[in-house]
Amino acid sequence: MDNLRFARQFLQHPRQLGTLFQSGRTLARKMAQEIGQSVQVVEFGSGTGPVTREILRRLPKNGRLTCFEINSEFCRRLRQIGDPRLRVINDDAVHCSRYVRRADCVISGLPLTLFDSRAREAILAIAGRSGLYVQLQYTPILGQDLRRHFSSVRLKFVAMNFPPAFLFVCRREGEVCEDASPRHPFKSRSRGSRVLIDSDEGRS
Ligand SMILES: C[S@@+](CC[C@H](N)C(=O)[O-])C[C@H]1O[C@@H](n2cnc3c(N)ncnc32)[C@H](O)[C@@H]1O
Repeated sequence: MDNLRFARQFLQHPRQLGTLFQSGRTLARKMAQEIGQSVQVVEFGSGTGPVTREILRRLPKNGRLTCFEINSEFCRRLRQIGDPRLRVINDDAVHCSRYVRRADCVISGLPLTLFDSRAREAILAIAGRSGLYVQLQYTPILGQDLRRHFSSVRLKFVAMNFPPAFLFVCRREGEVCEDASPRHPFKSRSRGSRVLIDSDEGRS
């Protein structure tokens, strides 16, 4: 049902959604597990909520998840989740600071490569204020923009999704980075900024 709802909205707002398919369970779990011990979590572009539900499964009792979703039909669907830790805001993610003072972690499904460069920069500047930022993409081409805001940028490939997806996991300098040791280092950069690429297949 949510798949159908998502596809219908894509036909009306293709650039806002960026894809015909919402995230599958494996991808949603992989995104959500990145929150680690975070208590204050923000999600940008929650859609019908596949990632939202997985985040709530991992969030502590005293945790807070604030979702920004520009599509009002999706917001109605998200509110049906009915979890007291969840706050759904029907507004542009760029207005985040009007509602949230600080976040341990920002998880984003926004189709950032379809945004104009000003809007993309505004989103990344907001995300850069939290210690941890996870961005879903279907191409690996966002790295350069992310490295301007984060000292560590790790790229994970999730083949078990249609379409296969990339997750950028970004951290600011000084943030705890438990899994920063490269399993399959692909490339490293100067200026202390790291770019690592992982394939997540076979891991839970
Ligand atoms: C690729 S979909 C991801 C949906 C969901 N997170 C998932 O993984 O299935 C992108 C979502 O971002 C929302 N969106 C696009 N631009 C936005 C903006 N500026 N602020 C908030 N939400 C936005 C769209 O309405 C859509 O639900």
